[in-house]
Amino acid sequence: MLKRLFSRDEIDDAVKRLASQIENDYGDEKIVFICLLKGSFVFTSDLIRQIHNPSRIDFLRVSSYGSGTNSKGEVNITKDIEESIEGENVVIVEDIIDSGLTLACVRDLLYAKNPKSLKICALLDKRARRKIEIEGDYIGFALEDGFVVGYGIDFAEMYRNLPDIYVVSED
Ligand code: IMP
Ligand code: MG
Repeated sequence: MLKRLFSRDEIDDAVKRLASQIENDYGDEKIVFICLLKGSFVFTSDLIRQIHNPSRIDFLRVSSYGSGTNSKGEVNITKDIEESIEGENVVIVEDIIDSGLTLACVRDLLYAKNPKSLKICALLDKRARRKIEIEGDYIGFALEDGFVVGYGIDFAEMYRNLPDIYVVSED
């Protein structure tokens, strides 16, 4: 059963808040947004339309091996970014930071491409579940445990099209 956790209006407010934080931090500088597929495609598309900086968008898809107990360094790039980020201000756009293992790998991978700066913007942050030290620079909502869907986020590839965010519960 799905229980609504964040309405589209609450999400919209959070996206606008994140966008203005980002605009304040970067002034007139160019930003390259890297959307982590697939979960953050809806979030990314809303976020970038609230940001007026000169921007580029690129897409990265990684798959993690096995469970969240894997050590860092074990992600598989299934779709790499397509343009250079050397010397660029990069903002990684992620749906959820959970254990942090995926994002830590992605961050290291992107650092190796010599960006000028690298920050993380995540819609949801499950801090209590972290297995590695990593912080988002821009966070929409903090979340306790629970599995969420909607607004681009899936359960077995379903529910990405829901405009609100729901918790999946068993009752
Ligand atoms: P981790 O931080 O490496 O553990 O993995 C984070 C990724 O796991 C997120 O980008 C999501 O794709 C997925 N994930 C974590 N929690 C949830 C959830 O509640 N619903 C759907 N996907 C989730
Ligand atoms: Mg994801």
